[in-house]
Amino acid sequence: MIFSTIRKPALVALGIVLALVQAIPSSTLRAKPRSLSFDYNNQKVRGVNLGGWLVLEPWITPSIFEKGGDAAVDEWTLTQCLGKDGAQSLLSQHWNTFITAADFQQISAAGMNHVRIPVGYWAVVPQPGDPYVQGQLDILDQAIEWARAADLKVIVDLHGAPGSQNGFDNSGRRGSIDWDQDPTHVNITLDAIQALAERYAQYTDVVTIIEALNEPMSVMGPSGVDLNTLKQFYYDSWGRIRAVNQDTVLAMHDGFQDIDSWNGFMGPDSGVWNVMMDTHHYEVFDNGLLSDNTDQHVQSACSFGKNKVSPTDKWTVVGEWTGAMTDCAKNLNGRGVGARWDGSYGSGSSFHGSCNGYAQGQVTDLSDDARTDIRRFIEAQLDAFECHTGWLYWTWTTEGAPEWDMKEQLATGVFPNPVTARQFPGQCD
Ligand SMILES: *[C@@H]1O[C@H](CO)[C@@H](O)[C@H](O)[C@H]1NC(C)=O
Repeated sequence: MIFSTIRKPALVALGIVLALVQAIPSSTLRAKPRSLSFDYNNQKVRGVNLGGWLVLEPWITPSIFEKGGDAAVDEWTLTQCLGKDGAQSLLSQHWNTFITAADFQQISAAGMNHVRIPVGYWAVVPQPGDPYVQGQLDILDQAIEWARAADLKVIVDLHGAPGSQNGFDNSGRRGSIDWDQDPTHVNITLDAIQALAERYAQYTDVVTIIEALNEPMSVMGPSGVDLNTLKQFYYDSWGRIRAVNQDTVLAMHDGFQDIDSWNGFMGPDSGVWNVMMDTHHYEVFDNGLLSDNTDQHVQSACSFGKNKVSPTDKWTVVGEWTGAMTDCAKNLNGRGVGARWDGSYGSGSSFHGSCNGYAQGQVTDLSDDARTDIRRFIEAQLDAFECHTGWLYWTWTTEGAPEWDMKEQLATGVFPNPVTARQFPGQCD
């Protein structure tokens, strides 16, 4: 489909695509997968995101942002407030302690086989004038060794692009969506993809997937990311990776478009291979969904798996999802922003219940009923998302967000351990 709509001044990467298409008989093109160290056709991806580690988020580690003062609302302003030296010292300490080799062992012991590791462009292709500090890739190198030792595969996920692809604090910079407004931003992002592909070319037994860009916001009209720019960027990302090797999977987030709409794009008949869709499923960022009871949350998850994830024409993971049924976690909607759940979010939010116990605390402090409901919702999603390629939970560990903290949830029986265990089997049948 993109070949007919693609813009005329053929970019370098498209040339590579076409050259490959010409060089390889079409029957070979459909023979997949190509010597990957994980069989994405027949094995289920079961994994977790290592969020808030190499890209900081105010709700995952509130204490770090408090050290930056009230103006520190994202990694850009945090590092700006701290200054280069202060930021380097605080962030290095965080990188070295927040997640260690023991975490990789625990993830593997619970029956998982993948981790998704967010990293910002600023770690890979630092830009003059940015306040950010570097050193994350040394940690990522180490993480890949830990993953190999624990028999885990790694998705290297570019979570922040210059100009911000979604305006979320987790892109590094909260505010406007400027990524696609300047071709230089897009070029820098492609350079980051290429640099990651080259850096991990010798690690393809572990780094099986590179995700081009997390959550580009393409559904906001003129103020969001232009969909054609995004599609061209995905094609060019594939070309940059293929120029390095033939195997590494390119993962593409759906840009918040209906997943159906991606069928045909870089699909089985388009001459490209080892391409995966990533879709994210949350039921807490919408007032209507927050009114649902647990049965309704379960039904929504089952329906999403059956009707949306299942029918896609390429490998599809639900690369982020949660057991949370409130948006109460402190700073979840942004530093200094309230929650829809208790009506403190402002316009359009109304009271569903108190955030006591949900905003900050331990999983064991939640009521028995709350823990049972979360477990039920988690199990339904596990069943729903295994209908296709698999899933990655958001997120492994937090400073105190009990609805989101997989490490604690596994330890307290709120997340099935191993992840294939069920107390509520067949919820989606
Ligand atoms: C982006 O990269 C393309 C291809 O290398 C090049 O032709 C173009 O001039 C670059 N644009 C900018 C704004 O740097």
